[in-house]
Amino acid sequence: MDWGMKNRFSRIIRPQDGRCLMLAVDHGYFLGPTERLEDARKTIAPLLPHADSLMLTRGILRNCVPAERDVPIVLRVSGGTSIIGEDLSKETITTSIEEAIKLNVSCLALSIFVGSKYEHQTLASLAKLVDEGEKYGIPVLAVTAVGKEMARDARYLGLACRIAAELGAHVVKTYYCENFEKVVEGCPVPLIIAGGKKLPELDALKLAYDSIQHGASGVDMGRNIWQSDHPVAMVKAVKAIVHNDADVKEAYNIFLKEREKTKTEPQKAPKALSQTASFD
Ligand code: R5P
Repeated sequence: MDWGMKNRFSRIIRPQDGRCLMLAVDHGYFLGPTERLEDARKTIAPLLPHADSLMLTRGILRNCVPAERDVPIVLRVSGGTSIIGEDLSKETITTSIEEAIKLNVSCLALSIFVGSKYEHQTLASLAKLVDEGEKYGIPVLAVTAVGKEMARDARYLGLACRIAAELGAHVVKTYYCENFEKVVEGCPVPLIIAGGKKLPELDALKLAYDSIQHGASGVDMGRNIWQSDHPVAMVKAVKAIVHNDADVKEAYNIFLKEREKTKTEPQKAPKALSQTASFD
């Protein structure tokens, strides 16, 4: 890795412990105003001090994150589809490398849809993005998007993650599954896991813990943090698992303690989350 690539990569996967707590707030790029992310500025602000990096689109970056904040940015540069459109897998590159450089991002993120109708298009986009990232020293995060019809098991995820790494991705985001160590074993670059649909806090912490125990380098978590009634308490608890080797019980105690401390007024309960479930 050249110096620029190494420097940016170290802002994503922290060299101190080889771990990463990425806060995902990019959901609107195909879901629109997702529950609890309607006012992204408000959702992001209290969580910023606790996240290692922020994953989002250029629109939300420009409008909802102060440029003065020194938070590493993972820029989602793929999209072009919507939840009500023809086929979610028909993604393309939506943001140029020049724009990413102007925005001073630390990493580029793009979804691949292995096994879908538009598999080839998304894999070719990944290869192109890696070429551009390599040229300017910007690492690429490949997101293994899983269609409704795909089994989210070690065989499928192992295939998708390995292909992403073979095409040159520097980090891969995937889902935790049974026999996750098999997925890790077959992927030569760091794997981070998405949180997925909102779970009870204890279950989400268990998911983060199990992932780390079985070889994940961290999390790229969204809904399980900001759809919690106590998002700051939740991000602190996840951070304890990712960076301080807390177990589930210790992390949950942190959540409970922080929940009391912040005395956050619970927002209204999330609506049926089915609107955000279709890409899970
Ligand atoms: C999906 O690919 C989105 O890009 C999200 O960034 C990702 O799913 C992580 O968010 P969550 O933890 O809510 O699943």
